Amino acid sequence: MNKNDSQVLLHQILDRLTFRINPKDAHRFYTRLGLNFHTVHSIFHELYSERDDFLESLTRLIKILGKAYSKRSETLKIKDMDREINTDWFLSQKWVGMALYANRFADNIKGVTDKIDYFNDLGINLVHLMPVMKCPKGASDGGYAVSDFKKVDSKMGDLDQLIDLGEKLNQNDILLTLDVVLNHTSNEHIWAKKAIKGDEQYENYYYTFDTKEETALYEQTMPEIFPETSPGSFTFNNKMNKWVMTVFHDYQWDLNYANPNVLIEMIDIILYYANLGADILRLDAVAFLWKKIGTTCQNLREAHLILQLIRACSQIVTPGVIFIAEAIVAPDELIKYFGCGAENMPVNSVGNYGGISNKECDIAYNATLMALLWDGVATKNAELLNYGINSLPRKPETGTWLNYLRCHDDIGLGFSDRDIILAGYNVKAHRKFLLNYFTGGKEFSDANGLTFGENVKTGDARIAGTLASLVGLGGNKKLQTVRDEDLQILSNEDLQILSNEDIKLRTDQIIMLHSLIFAFEGIPLLYYGDEIGTVNDFDYLNDKHMSYDSRWAHRPVIDWEKAKLRKKKGTIEQKIFSALKKLISLRKSLAVFKDNNSHISPVYTGNKHILCWIRSIPDSFVDSSLNFMKPAPDISNTSFNDKVLVIANLAVTRQYVTLSLLSTVFNLNMHYGEVKDLYSGKNPKIVDGHIVFEPFSFMWLTQVTL
Ligand code: GLC
Repeated sequence: MNKNDSQVLLHQILDRLTFRINPKDAHRFYTRLGLNFHTVHSIFHELYSERDDFLESLTRLIKILGKAYSKRSETLKIKDMDREINTDWFLSQKWVGMALYANRFADNIKGVTDKIDYFNDLGINLVHLMPVMKCPKGASDGGYAVSDFKKVDSKMGDLDQLIDLGEKLNQNDILLTLDVVLNHTSNEHIWAKKAIKGDEQYENYYYTFDTKEETALYEQTMPEIFPETSPGSFTFNNKMNKWVMTVFHDYQWDLNYANPNVLIEMIDIILYYANLGADILRLDAVAFLWKKIGTTCQNLREAHLILQLIRACSQIVTPGVIFIAEAIVAPDELIKYFGCGAENMPVNSVGNYGGISNKECDIAYNATLMALLWDGVATKNAELLNYGINSLPRKPETGTWLNYLRCHDDIGLGFSDRDIILAGYNVKAHRKFLLNYFTGGKEFSDANGLTFGENVKTGDARIAGTLASLVGLGGNKKLQTVRDEDLQILSNEDLQILSNEDIKLRTDQIIMLHSLIFAFEGIPLLYYGDEIGTVNDFDYLNDKHMSYDSRWAHRPVIDWEKAKLRKKKGTIEQKIFSALKKLISLRKSLAVFKDNNSHISPVYTGNKHILCWIRSIPDSFVDSSLNFMKPAPDISNTSFNDKVLVIANLAVTRQYVTLSLLSTVFNLNMHYGEVKDLYSGKNPKIVDGHIVFEPFSFMWLTQVTL
């Protein structure tokens, strides 16, 4: 099919439709439709051409696009136009995010609006609201089992509160990110209810099977996602007398995208969220969107095609909105979610995209870096981190990573076996060591983590727990669940009594870990509560709809009385909060941290406890602000350091790095006075030709003119 065929078809379709679009800006819609229709048509054709309802479905899709455009507000249309010109707007170093549950961070969505001053104080200007749409009263996987995509859940607030939040955030130059649960619905969604009643049209919205044998064909190659609590990938429904595909929990029914009606419904929902005022949409579980017998049912070519189609539709209606890929998959697969997943081209580690990028998502979770950093916490060295960072595929210039330490999910040890071997470890023994370190209790370390998703068949398990608890700053399950009178029977060993020195070390470690995600390529995403050192919350054990899922331990309800301690000098809360605030403000002032400006180059310092990389603007780089077509960037408060040496000591002991590192990196003749740590504002401490690193300390070194 060529572009001309597409144009002819588009005319035919438009002849059959009438839109209620304001004539004032109708041309924008039609121009974008004209530009993107060939993509929409080709992908739709590839996925659904065999079906009799192909043309009818495609026509309905275009109708939905027109309808969504007619509902888009003037303010959002202006934002769209601005971002169509400044396509790299989200690559600025100024963005720093926080992910939170509206009803746990504050009471509800309105409560989040009331906390805008808190975001401003810390420097947060991207808020990711965990799912807020209606879900069942009982188990709902933290909102990821949606029963109505267009209604806000009453425990979160209502639609007006959500729209108001979007507007107020916008007024404060804070981005709103909403979650779109694309892969499945709750079994209480109207589509599922109709399917249960035997409505064939809706049965076809899901994967349903008459016999166990049919499901077994899939299960042979499908990994289990929640082996402990929801083993297998299918659930038998008595009322239907059928098996339903439920890859996640038994109450989360997988949507069948082989049915174009499903795709059209979900595109309608995506555009609806965009029209509510979201700047960014987090597309949940994108790797799972297509299922095929004989495969893992993850990362399939068709899943990429669906994302490309969604992207093309959003380019037509809501071009100012960008997408985050939530794909917790191997780096080589992950990189494809920027846009080359359906091409038959090899993705190599230097990022050969043939000019194709962001055809799917703009941002992707950097789960590999996250897991590697936890390896660094356990081993106190950078051996695996160095190999892992080195083998991360290079992202396209036009896309970026979301760098995080903790999120609402578990920590999976998702780095490659190859890198573990290169770092000199035995694969099985090392993974076991990490699990024991974080979840094994006092015998192994002070970390207060919990196991999640243990698979007895494969021996795999993942880790839950808040950042503060995982570095041993409290959150011991035993202590929080015993009654006072039982305390006497606990030995001193069980009681986690932290000395001031311990507290200092652990808060320093928390701050150092954050310094790394602030200095890596991408957008740092904080997890609510970490900024004040919140520990595990075991209340979930009292609720039968949560007690089976240890991830709730790190989804705390914030105690705002305690959070006030962030203003009291000498408290843990104050120490972490003020350090993060300073780091955020510093990051925003450094043009070298702008993501389409600079790359990171890992540096091996000769000391295995030291993690080090250079963040620099490549010589060949031409500042896009030089392009006269673009408005001049705001460079007030921006420094011109074009090279920052990011260094962190992962060890609990003092470490040394030879001074010659500085002369090499900065081309100096040992005038170390020319090098300053941007964070402390001081020259590094030098002893006997070595830079001294205190336990868990870090520096952002740069050259200053004397
Ligand atoms: C995503 C979410 C996770 C959820 C899963 C199923 O991975 O991050 O919390 O359990 O999707 O919806």
